[in-house]
Amino acid sequence: MLRMTVEPNELLQIAVRIAGGAADLARQMRDEGVTGITTKSSATDVVTAADRAAERYVREALRDSRPGDAVLGEEAGESPGKGAVRWILDPIDGTVNYLYGVPHYAVSLAAEVDGEVVAGVVRNPVSGEQWTATRGGGAWRGEVRLVGSTVTELSQTLLATGFGYAAARRVHQARVVAKLLPIVRDIRRFGAASLDLCFAAEGRVDAYYEKGLNLWDHAAGGLIAAEAGLRVGGLSGAGAGPDLVVAAPPAIWEPLQDALVRLDAAGGP
Ligand code: IPD
Repeated sequence: MLRMTVEPNELLQIAVRIAGGAADLARQMRDEGVTGITTKSSATDVVTAADRAAERYVREALRDSRPGDAVLGEEAGESPGKGAVRWILDPIDGTVNYLYGVPHYAVSLAAEVDGEVVAGVVRNPVSGEQWTATRGGGAWRGEVRLVGSTVTELSQTLLATGFGYAAARRVHQARVVAKLLPIVRDIRRFGAASLDLCFAAEGRVDAYYEKGLNLWDHAAGGLIAAEAGLRVGGLSGAGAGPDLVVAAPPAIWEPLQDALVRLDAAGGP
């Protein structure tokens, strides 16, 4: 059977168009008032009608543009496809910010080909800022090509992180962050992992780590950070995944890894 090659740029164009539509929908629904609030993994892990509507919008648009592709989305899970492409979607990353009207949330959409993320877009519907990347094609915010921070000292590092929704996990995460705080410049907790990775990509923070992320939280942002020259991975040679996602400029990768290993940042529940 003849296998069609899939161009990352083509996938990115589709991703940008569809993420833009989903972002407009999420923002419009926020302006009209948040509805349909339910909880998922814990009493603080919320989902709104807009999360579900934005995911439905993206799935339908993908079905029109690329029928047969697989989709993994935060709200509706995995839909198998027939080819090499799988889309990875967080319809609203930063749902708690969304709920409270904090203008810091994002639509995150990535395209994988044969299991490798090759294109991704993260869009903040409120600020209109949009970060994109294709594998080997660099990371961009609009027309601006992004390069991460040039920090060389852990002690000078502005470090972003986030916390899970389960209380037991948070106890462990709090212990880790308490030990990191005195040895870095400062800590930031903005509330949307995809945007944390984009902020690292453009040096608005120097580095980022978090335990417990799902693929939809970091697929697009991880590619954007990597294409901006950051190292992106897990701990001790592992890939980025649920145990840990770390994004840091090469010069502080080792000292940050050492600190995260010493503090067992990938451990705990
Ligand atoms: C959450 C955000 C948050 C991170 C959590 C994620 P959601 O995603 O990215 O910053 O700390 O781990 O679950 O639930 O808003 O899509």
